[in-house]
Amino acid sequence: MITSNDATELDLLLSQTKDILVQYVNQCQQENTQVVEHLCPEELVKVFDFGLEKDGVGRDGILDTIQGMLKYSVRSWNSKFIDKLYSGTDPIGVVSELMLGILNSNNHVYHVSPVTTMMEIKTAERMAELVGFKVRGGGRGITCPGGSASNQLAVITARNRKFPHIKTEGSRRGEILTMFTSTHSHYSLEKAAIMIGIGINNLIKVPCTEDGAMIPEELEKSIQESIARGESPFFVNATAGTTVLGAFDPLRPIGAVCQKYDLWFHVDGSWGGSVMFSEKLRYLIDGSELADSYTINPQKMLGVPLQCSYLLTKDPFVLQKYNSLNAGYLFHGENYDLGDGTVGCGRRPDAVKMFMAWKYNGSQGFESRVDRGFELAQYMYRKITENPRFRMVRKPASLNVCFW
Ligand SMILES: *Cc1c(COP(=O)(O)O)cnc(C)c1O
Ligand SMILES: *[C@@H]1O[C@H](CO)[C@@H](O)[C@H](O)[C@H]1NC(C)=O
Ligand SMILES: *[C@@H]1O[C@H](CO)[C@@H](O)[C@H](O)[C@H]1NC(C)=O
Repeated sequence: MITSNDATELDLLLSQTKDILVQYVNQCQQENTQVVEHLCPEELVKVFDFGLEKDGVGRDGILDTIQGMLKYSVRSWNSKFIDKLYSGTDPIGVVSELMLGILNSNNHVYHVSPVTTMMEIKTAERMAELVGFKVRGGGRGITCPGGSASNQLAVITARNRKFPHIKTEGSRRGEILTMFTSTHSHYSLEKAAIMIGIGINNLIKVPCTEDGAMIPEELEKSIQESIARGESPFFVNATAGTTVLGAFDPLRPIGAVCQKYDLWFHVDGSWGGSVMFSEKLRYLIDGSELADSYTINPQKMLGVPLQCSYLLTKDPFVLQKYNSLNAGYLFHGENYDLGDGTVGCGRRPDAVKMFMAWKYNGSQGFESRVDRGFELAQYMYRKITENPRFRMVRKPASLNVCFW
């Protein structure tokens, strides 16, 4: 229950920590600050109090914990912090996280999360529009706990659509389902193959060009071979921005192959999918409107705090249609109960962070961030080729600059 005591305590805690946090960010961005004071686990447990006692430390004691966390954690706000998968966030990202904390709302059903559910639907609809999903209300989507989870939900939905009997009976004797992805595929698809029980060997790897892009003719050949073996192909995964080389698969011809064989066409844009915001770079995802689903991770290229990932779908109701179990105690057939379309139940409203960043800086903000990233990659590429002590692996396809 919220009492005035909670408000008073919150006020005190916030005023105690606000200066510490602001000062921390300031210090992180100083030239000579290290990215991390690295300690191995044995050393860390000696200098940081991980003990959980019968009596709590209270408001004053918790300050030590907060300061210790800041001292020994990796400083993602530091300009020398360069990691795969994510970057530091920005002030509006932190305020969004505070809003999530204050509300503690749950985007599984609308009636406990009216505003945050609509934020999720609206952000998904706008991105679905950018992808080109303009059928029946322009497509939709939901957030998932990461790109791997978004991809996996796409696989499960595609499987349930094409083989509805599996939802009730399971696989039939001798039934072999196959999925297709490029040889440069991220392991999350293998995990999905394990999860839905088709096995890694039935995830067929399609050959790529030297630059790491899938070859559509090879895809068609693999599909035909699979059909000839008596298998049932159902899913093709193309990538907008591979994890290692940053390659973009040619979506339009791959989409045409998928249509011909009636296969679910998924685009994994976890990394490169954010180019949808750039007028200049959108050509990289030409043909994306042919997809059935599209993953984008604003937590990667757009600086939205972890976690924030969306699975966008062309058919706005496809997730509910194929994943719902009609749990009567929770869901009442409204399309605003987003949890119904997932394989989970309660959900953090990660979309709030996307909505707030978008509202704050506008689409223009995302566009300049993406464009600037691509400019910096080109700058780095020039610098490396000018220096005889370095050697490029190959010319960057997008943001990944691979060199020796
Ligand atoms: C990062 C990445 C993923 C996984 O996303 P997580 O949010 O880390 O689960 C999947 N596919 C591609 C292409 C990626 O770059
Ligand atoms: C698709 O391919 C990409 C990279 O090649 C990979 O990251 C992703 O996990 C794959 N899987 C799915 C289900 O899309
Ligand atoms: C949004 O604007 C703020 C303040 O100008 C800036 O620090 C931040 O990087 C911007 N974020 C994006 C995603 O454009």
